[in-house]
Amino acid sequence: MSGPHGPDAPGRPGQAEAAARALSFGTDAAGYDEARPSYPEALVDDLLAGAGAGPVLDVGCGTGKLARQLTARGASVLGVEADERMAAVARSHGIAVEVSRFEDFDPAGRRFALCTAAQAWHWVDPVAGPAKAATALVPGGQLALLWNLREQPDPAVTAAFDACYRQLAPELAGTTMVLGGPPEARGLEAHLDLVTASGSFVDGEVRRYRWQTRYDTAAWRALLSTQSDHRLLDPARRERLLDGAARVVDDLGGVLDIAYVTLALLARRRADEPAGAGASVGPDQQPAGGAG
Ligand SMILES: C[S@@+](CC[C@H](N)C(=O)[O-])C[C@H]1O[C@@H](n2cnc3c(N)ncnc32)[C@H](O)[C@@H]1O
Repeated sequence: MSGPHGPDAPGRPGQAEAAARALSFGTDAAGYDEARPSYPEALVDDLLAGAGAGPVLDVGCGTGKLARQLTARGASVLGVEADERMAAVARSHGIAVEVSRFEDFDPAGRRFALCTAAQAWHWVDPVAGPAKAATALVPGGQLALLWNLREQPDPAVTAAFDACYRQLAPELAGTTMVLGGPPEARGLEAHLDLVTASGSFVDGEVRRYRWQTRYDTAAWRALLSTQSDHRLLDPARRERLLDGAARVVDDLGGVLDIAYVTLALLARRRADEPAGAGASVGPDQQPAGGAG
């Protein structure tokens, strides 16, 4: 596959690399749990307002960052997670998890009012994913695909990190999503088109929640270390890159104020369509990945 929407485009891993990146987070599950941000409270409120008191299925729940926010509000959440190491951390926080790729998950007759996927849907097959979500949701149930994305950073800050990455990991310079990523890698809204093209979902809607947070040098270094493209680097090289990035933050005064937008792609399970019925999607319709 080639062209601006193929996996070889900047920020778009090829299939083998994508598979390795999808399961890279578990190589330091505790570090992921510690360093990654959670999700805006207003978003969590909105999701649960739409779900009523019904059960929630959290796809690619990882260490349970979103699942914990949902359970803290009284929701009953089941996580589906491909990586046992991530699932173990989620379970240590009291989250029920079944270890499975979502594509292979067996709902076994269970039906959920809300199906969430936070920072995870781009690792799920774009045809099998919507079909499986349709099977797992009650009629009218909501699918919510979520990503924390960086707003366009300050050009001076970008330039400082770019210089560091060009020197220490040129293959990540200008592509890694943690630094903002290339504009063409931000086509995540296309995932909503694929969900509605499946024929099983209606009322597609895009919402954005803006927020910001502050990282000190250690927290920023730890966050970078959780990124899938950084995790695939040789460990010694990764350490040199992280040390270099830490020096950049120190030179900027030891703190980084990062503006995020949480992108929420929402759709409702059709009430009148049998689960699994829907249009197929060609490989060139695969949307952007590389967000995590
Ligand atoms: C970037 S993490 C997001 C974790 C969590 N949702 C969060 O917001 O912190 C992506 C997670 O998806 C999992 N994953 C990747 N491919 C998957 C698949 N096909 N089915 C289920 N989980 C998958 C990974 O193991 C990882 O834990």
